[in-house]
Amino acid sequence: MVPNSSLPRDADNLLMLAAQSMFDVFARSAQGMMVVDREHRIVWISEGYKQFLPALGFESEDSFVGRRVEDVVPNTLMAQVIETGRPILVDLLSNQAGTFLVSRLPLRGAAGEVIGAIGLVLMDHPESTMQPLMAKFARLKNELEDAHRQLAAQRRAKHTIASFIGNSAAALEAKRQARRVAQGNSTVLLLGETGTGKELLAHAIHAASARATMPFVGINIAAVPETLLEAEFFGVAPGAYTGADRKGREGKFKLADGGTLFLDEIGDMPLSLQSKLLRVLQEQELEPLGSNQMLKVDVRVIAATSRDLAAMVGNGQFRADLYYRLNVVPIRLPTLRERTADFEALAEALLEDIARRSSMAHRELSPEALELLAAQPWPGNIRELRNVLEQASMMSDELRLMPSHFAGMVSVPLGADAAAAARLESDQTLQQAAPRPLPEQIEMLERQAIAAALAHTQGNKVAAAKLLQISRAKLYDKLARDN
Ligand SMILES: Nc1ncnc2c1ncn2[C@@H]1O[C@H](COP(=O)(O)OP(=O)(O)OP(=O)(O)O)[C@@H](O)[C@H]1O
Ligand SMILES: [Mg+2]
Repeated sequence: MVPNSSLPRDADNLLMLAAQSMFDVFARSAQGMMVVDREHRIVWISEGYKQFLPALGFESEDSFVGRRVEDVVPNTLMAQVIETGRPILVDLLSNQAGTFLVSRLPLRGAAGEVIGAIGLVLMDHPESTMQPLMAKFARLKNELEDAHRQLAAQRRAKHTIASFIGNSAAALEAKRQARRVAQGNSTVLLLGETGTGKELLAHAIHAASARATMPFVGINIAAVPETLLEAEFFGVAPGAYTGADRKGREGKFKLADGGTLFLDEIGDMPLSLQSKLLRVLQEQELEPLGSNQMLKVDVRVIAATSRDLAAMVGNGQFRADLYYRLNVVPIRLPTLRERTADFEALAEALLEDIARRSSMAHRELSPEALELLAAQPWPGNIRELRNVLEQASMMSDELRLMPSHFAGMVSVPLGADAAAAARLESDQTLQQAAPRPLPEQIEMLERQAIAAALAHTQGNKVAAAKLLQISRAKLYDKLARDN
């Protein structure tokens, strides 16, 4: 800058004058202005500010000045500005007096220490003068609320105990236990082969519990890379990492606070994390990555696995202490083979669901087809049954499914069931269905391939993914589509 001889030579003096005149300009032209001291006490208000006193519940300046600002101006952030020393240049303040565009600046003493703050009401009723901006603000707020509602709805359990079909002794026993544990808060362990309904029952227990209105959060341990699991579980404190995670992230435990956390495929939990999980289960508190503060959480845990946890404890793959902690209330889900009494009801419910979710008409099973299907071993249990029914429905336009519609999908039994086999052979009434849309056919083929791979590996998903040469994550993704 070129020095100008007409200005005072003393820069400090100039600054003082500038500060003084700025203060005066703001005090006169802003709608209102206040000065607050280090203890948050109001020491001065401008003439303009007096117009807000009645709406804040004060008759005179005398009764207002001298009070702590947070006691007399609802929602003010002046205290925060004093405590942090950081200004809030533009903000919207809403309270019973209206909505205001405000600005808050810290005041500093000679040594730079905060000695108070100035608050400015730049504009009142910004909703009329700043219409476009306010409309945008209101719209964004609505969108955010919608998103929150949708998220909450998604987290709410999808199934109830009544949607667990079956009245066989084994199914009733599983449902009875589910109802009983739903009353309390204890950790639940769901055991059963692949496709027996563990995830469905986890949702159902949550829905029947006092936590039903709180979130249900699931995490599939086998589907998350080992290196990311800890952050997924416990979250990351802000600033712990640089880059995308700089702001920190909430872990599943925190997201499930007040509700239920479903730990699917608990048998795939790496040993190193097992001890940390045990601690959270015992203490109900956790430490996010990069934080040194313990976080209290109130979460009911439901764990599930199709693996033999007791055997894994035996050969050192699973911690005994965690196993005992999880195994307080085990519920074993029966295989489809163990509850043939439920076969018809299950098939009927599945066909109904298939029709509801697709564009196809509702099919029914002929007695012969029912007999044929009920005699199958079903290593993939209800998921496999569902796939086979869906596939048969797609292959034919007929509303009544005959044994021939299942040719190639199930094995035809020998001996006593020769009659069914003969029927299958002679059932030549099969009409060629009009081809289904290509995406549907591709999806069906995928399901079929996955069901076959799972059957081949007795439900071991890691092995099935290997057979299919796809990643574990992809396999879980595709399995998740049936729910
Ligand atoms: N009792 C049941 N009544 C109706 N549908 C069921 C029942 N059990 C399971 N299903 C259906 O079967 C499919 C598989 O169930 P689910 O995903 O709960 O099995 P899972 O035990 O978690 O299997 P996995 O170990 O492979 O994850 C889902 O589509 C589910 O809705
Ligand atoms: Mg599952």
